[in-house]
Amino acid sequence: MYQPLHLKYRPKNLQELVGQDTIKTTLTNAITSSQIARAYLFTGPRGTGKTSTARILAKSLNCLNSKKPTATPCGECSSCKTIDSCSSLDVTEIDAASHNGVDDARELIQHSNFAPAMSPYRIWILDECHQLSTSAQNALLKCLEEPPAHVVFILCTTEAHKVLPTIISRCQTFNFRALSVDAMVGQLHKISSAESIAIANSAMRAIARTCDGGLRDALQLLSQLSLLNSEITVSSVAEVSGSISEEDSIALLKAIHSGDTLSVLQSSRTLIDSGKTPKLILSNLLAAMRDLLIVKSTRHCQNLITGPVGYSQLRSLALHLDFETIDAACTQLQKSEFQLRTSTNAATWLEVCLLNLIGKSEPAAPEMRLPATSQSNRFDKLDKSPQDVKAPAPAPAPDLEATWAQVIAAAKPGNRDLLNRAKIAELSTDSCVLVVERKYATKFKTHLESVQRIVTKALGRSVNVTVKQQEDLAA
Ligand SMILES: Nc1ncnc2c1ncn2[C@@H]1O[C@H](COP(=O)(O)OP(=O)(O)OP(=O)(O)O)[C@@H](O)[C@H]1O
Ligand SMILES: [Mg+2]
Ligand SMILES: [Zn+2]
Repeated sequence: MYQPLHLKYRPKNLQELVGQDTIKTTLTNAITSSQIARAYLFTGPRGTGKTSTARILAKSLNCLNSKKPTATPCGECSSCKTIDSCSSLDVTEIDAASHNGVDDARELIQHSNFAPAMSPYRIWILDECHQLSTSAQNALLKCLEEPPAHVVFILCTTEAHKVLPTIISRCQTFNFRALSVDAMVGQLHKISSAESIAIANSAMRAIARTCDGGLRDALQLLSQLSLLNSEITVSSVAEVSGSISEEDSIALLKAIHSGDTLSVLQSSRTLIDSGKTPKLILSNLLAAMRDLLIVKSTRHCQNLITGPVGYSQLRSLALHLDFETIDAACTQLQKSEFQLRTSTNAATWLEVCLLNLIGKSEPAAPEMRLPATSQSNRFDKLDKSPQDVKAPAPAPAPDLEATWAQVIAAAKPGNRDLLNRAKIAELSTDSCVLVVERKYATKFKTHLESVQRIVTKALGRSVNVTVKQQEDLAA
């Protein structure tokens, strides 16, 4: 029978619980030394192991193959089995969201007085306990403080601040943490190998980042992605999880990069209209900028890339940017993240933030300002000397990709394949630096004269061409 991955791989004992090391240690010690509290409160973000741990604790207390509480419940006895399948007579999981009234609480208290049917403890797991009404919580106070000797309460909640302080002070509290990206990737790796799911390492990191430390969400996403029947990649993760695709991310980065206000606003509007939240767009942009910083600062960093844009695209974007500019953009985005979170009009704040990213590109001194008609290019600002800018009628910042496409279109069809192996890295009025894939570099260098002729003809001016291998241009 089909079982979703997150249920199939629910941890069965404390050793299988991922992360949560302090919790594992304290609970293990409490169990082995039989220091069992009357009431526990498990709090933390969703999908981090609260319900799983509650069941493990219940099995540890009620395993029939052990005379006293055990940190290694057998998983085989009828008690362990019925707890795993939620059908135990002595362990009751109550969804507090739907049993939240004071009458439900009274009924629970009454049932607590009965001795357990077949195991040492009668255990109540109150899931989402913050949903209990105030009067229900108050009704439980007395019972939580001094329950019958055979009763243990385990309260679970994602929102501890909604639980009455008087309840909290009667419970031993365990704070579950959002899992680290590495912990999540470890688990995704283990499960995808066991299930023979083909998935790239970068895609696992992308899933882990998308799911914000919640393992259930990560496994649900993995299940869904495995239905694609092809190797799972970063872009399939983006597509299925509803995050922003690589193309859209690059389009937005390029629009900001070229200072094209209209295109920036249009791109962000289109994303919002397609259901992406301003917060998602912003954190997506921040992740891409962070990756650009890494690409700019170090070589061989494929494994460190976690954002929406792949390594090779980042490399070519990074060619046009300097470190300080990307760093400033990160700072700006981070500031806006706070504004976005606290504002009721997040979409407007996003636009303000994006405009700021472009606006900051204007050079400070008035004499350095470009004419209004030309597009300022914040990412090129440090490369421009004041003389360049003051020169009569300066050309607008060229779109390098479009220029190269123009060159290729003007070339003879027989030459186009080779030309497609290069990109323009730098372009000025009389010089052009091409960056070429390593294995084609020699070919380019031997045919440099012809390439120069093609470029000169296509651009209608004399241009001195130099060729660099892709690696030469790394940060
Ligand atoms: N720490 C963890 N170690 C191993 N698996 C985990 C962990 N946390 C979550 N999971 C996976 O996610 C699934 C759901 O976990 P669980 O029900 O324990 O989360 P929860 O904290 O109770 O979440 P919620 O607050 O949404 O109820 C588990 O079945 C398991 O597959
Ligand atoms: Mg739960
Ligand atoms: Zn057992």
